Amino acid sequence: MTLKGTMNRPTLRLFFSFAVLLASCTPPPRQPASQSRSAESLESPRDPHSYSNPNQVRVRHLDLDLEVSFQNKTLQGTAALTLERAPGRANAPLVLDTHDLTVTQIEAVDSANVFHPVKFTLGQKDKILGSPLSIDVPPASRQVRVHYSSSPAASALQWLNPEQTAGKKHPFLFSQSEAIYARTWIPLQDSPSVRITYTARIRTPRHLKAVMSAEGNFQLALPETKAPGTSAGGTSGVPVSGGNLTQFSFQMNQAIPSYLIALAAGNMEFKSLGPRTGVYAEPSVLEKAAAEFTDTEKMIEATERVYGPYRWGRYDLLVLPPSFPYGGMENPRLTFATPTILAGDKSLVSLVAHELAHSWSGNLVTNATWSDFWLNEGFTTYVENRIIEAVYGPERARMEAALNRQELEESIKTKEEKDQVLHIDLTGRDPEEGVTDIPYIKGALFLRHLEQAYGRPRFDSFVRSYFDHFAFQSIPTRQFEEYLRENLLASGAANGPGSAGAHPVPVEEWIYKSGIPSSAPRLQSDALSRVQEQAANWIAGRASASQLRTSAWSYHEWLYFLRALPTPLSTERMQQLDAAFHFTRSGNSEILNQWLLMTIRSDYNPAYAHLEQFLTSVGRRKFLRPLYTELAKTEAGRQRAFAIYKKARPSYHPIAVATCDEILKWREEGSSVK
Ligand code: BES
Ligand code: ZN
Repeated sequence: MTLKGTMNRPTLRLFFSFAVLLASCTPPPRQPASQSRSAESLESPRDPHSYSNPNQVRVRHLDLDLEVSFQNKTLQGTAALTLERAPGRANAPLVLDTHDLTVTQIEAVDSANVFHPVKFTLGQKDKILGSPLSIDVPPASRQVRVHYSSSPAASALQWLNPEQTAGKKHPFLFSQSEAIYARTWIPLQDSPSVRITYTARIRTPRHLKAVMSAEGNFQLALPETKAPGTSAGGTSGVPVSGGNLTQFSFQMNQAIPSYLIALAAGNMEFKSLGPRTGVYAEPSVLEKAAAEFTDTEKMIEATERVYGPYRWGRYDLLVLPPSFPYGGMENPRLTFATPTILAGDKSLVSLVAHELAHSWSGNLVTNATWSDFWLNEGFTTYVENRIIEAVYGPERARMEAALNRQELEESIKTKEEKDQVLHIDLTGRDPEEGVTDIPYIKGALFLRHLEQAYGRPRFDSFVRSYFDHFAFQSIPTRQFEEYLRENLLASGAANGPGSAGAHPVPVEEWIYKSGIPSSAPRLQSDALSRVQEQAANWIAGRASASQLRTSAWSYHEWLYFLRALPTPLSTERMQQLDAAFHFTRSGNSEILNQWLLMTIRSDYNPAYAHLEQFLTSVGRRKFLRPLYTELAKTEAGRQRAFAIYKKARPSYHPIAVATCDEILKWREEGSSVK
């Protein structure tokens, strides 16, 4: 039996009757890993990373009313949840996910819309999952309101002092909900299989602005408003509390998974980039950001040509302070981005292409559980590359794909077989463990293989219809697979009669097996082959650094060049490179990261101060992880890493702190475990 989607309303009745057969009312959060896929139905399997019971009581809408207190480092207020009950489940409690929330009171509405206090229990805390919040909701009640505050240590939130911002005058707050951190600032059903609409009122200290992954100012009818959701950018609030606070209001009318709820507050300014695009940043960063992102509108148009209309109204970017632990986060209508992509030459804007691509893959069609994460990131990495090809040409796209492929081959070597599969089993593990090059790059390579086997026109129309078919739904891998078989594989290959029959794409192997199938597409970049030659000339001593033919090399070529060099290199050889090419002073964060890795491997002293400067000013985990890991390989390096980390740790985001603590075996009080 086939369900065409697990979350849409028309199939809800069918869904609920099915759901009765599934998990019980209070399932244990950590189930033993199931080795067999045969028992899996086409239904969304239970999400092992949520305590919630959406098969019985499902949250449909969230209304937030929160005050941002920089003094207490808390968000405090209420979350009102609108519910829908499955037939025959009138007495089931509502189970929500929470993590370090302080819940003071919960009320439920009666038939006259009056709130009454109800009983609730906060279960035991699990280190990864937090605590289930079980609420006795009267059978007829359709709304509960939770009074709560977040903890100053909430993993989703980083509270920055003024000194940690570019302007140094105002504090800054931002959230990061993916994968399972939304529960550290909102009590909700924190599973990507549960989609909700939301509204919010956020109060910030007087001079600060609030932005969310939603439409702002929704109560104000702006004169510029063209169509719903595409109003002119920028957000403004209204004074409240005698003028001490400013209140901002938001609405997200499209049903999204909880991990896409996002908030930032600080001294931000807005600059328009195009009719539906713009950028927010601290004032001193705004111009640089706007210059970097001038191609955003073109990227949207290029994506729409292949994959159908952009469905979210506006697409704005928010450039965060440098402690943002990720490169980017695809919060709907408002991508959050690290300032480390502001290279000055648009060389790192594939990150914008990536986050924009999520507006189709991820935000429109969403992974049902974190085991299906590759559906989000593999499709997005593939679409990202197609956007780069359309806007910047095929050679740049090929170079980026080749650099990715190089990373995949490196990282696959370090992974256990079970972690090399696209559909990864994360039961009992932190979803963070699934965030590797496998879902991203192996996922994209699988799609590239399908594209090559069936031809671009057919594959493009398949992907477009996949996005349309599952729009605003959350689907498990099995459902993608079934759709693929019925809508692409069944039609046979485009490359001549029977050619896919002779060399069928090994779909099962791609999704469920380790390694990279031997029939995976090979990539050829002429530009990178020329770089390889130059590197070989220098390595073999046939040319000095300054004699190499590097003129007009792009960032990609430089990165490839550095990766082609062996380490360790002597101090003299490192000095020659640095004198000729000034890597230590590079303004490109990716080049600097790669070079700093080489300096650690080669024990190259002149770059130490820059290494420390980089690690204490940037909190992006992509850079922190390899640099600290490399340092930790020798005793002297470990000592240096500790000294730097001690200074830097208070400025890192909780998510980055968790990663670095693990790499360095750091204990709270700062002592190492020998
Ligand atoms: N959605 C991810 C970020 C993410 C994944 C956050 C999993 C938390 C858990 C985002 O789209 C992403 O992939 N960002 C990348 C950049 C991209 C260009 C590969 C990053 O942050 O490095
Ligand atoms: Zn992504």
